[in-house]
Amino acid sequence: MRTVAIIPAGGSGSRSGYSVPKQFLKINGKELIAYTLEVFQKSKLITEIVVAVHSNFFNKMKKIKNKYGITKLKNIVEGGGERQDSVFNALSSLELNATDLVVVHDAARPLLPQSVLTEAIKTAKAKGNALVCIKASDTILKSSEKEFKYLDRSEIFYVQTPQIFQFGDLVKGFNKAYKHSFKGTDESSIMHFAGAKIFITPGSILNYKITTQDDIKILKQLTKSIPC
Ligand code: CTP
Ligand code: MG
Repeated sequence: MRTVAIIPAGGSGSRSGYSVPKQFLKINGKELIAYTLEVFQKSKLITEIVVAVHSNFFNKMKKIKNKYGITKLKNIVEGGGERQDSVFNALSSLELNATDLVVVHDAARPLLPQSVLTEAIKTAKAKGNALVCIKASDTILKSSEKEFKYLDRSEIFYVQTPQIFQFGDLVKGFNKAYKHSFKGTDESSIMHFAGAKIFITPGSILNYKITTQDDIKILKQLTKSIPC
């Protein structure tokens, strides 16, 4: 059975405010995406990796692959207009059996703990899919023109990646989403739209998504002791 990681890295990082997409920023001497790729390179459960980036970063990706020895990186595909399109381009490049697993993980989440990845793959092998989430720990308020309502945080989850699905299910889910012009910010919302029952598995606060300049400041601190 193959377990293939898809790493969408085709975004522009507009909320970070840098001219370089955040996944290519150097953090303590190493590109952010290199930290992410090393997690998958190190995992014994991952057989290969596909990255989606815009074509002007193809060369940069090849250099990063060689510099950090990401030998599992088998294919670099063109990113799309939205994250969903980038993942679909990567998915379309794969020839897998229907029950092989596809592990989609944001390039912008460089500190995914191995234990979270391992546990998620274990769940997906047993149940068919796995969605990494963390439970809300703050008070949760829904506020708009219409309402000001406190929600029961025991029922609130922050959805992270990896999100793991069987290849056949994911292809069907994406095709259904495109057919109905459904746009999802992640695979789980697409698969939920397609009618899948989804299984939650524990994430980690360390697996936060680099979005703003403050996130980058925190990342610089956290990676100070990690060798390049
Ligand atoms: N992504 C992608 N293709 C896109 C948009 C996003 O592959 N067209 C990737 C990003 O590179 C990132 C992940 O999806 O690894 C999560 O997206 P996000 O954090 O929103 O990154 P950006 O879209 O780059 O940032 P922003 O929304 O601030 O512009
Ligand atoms: Mg975005």
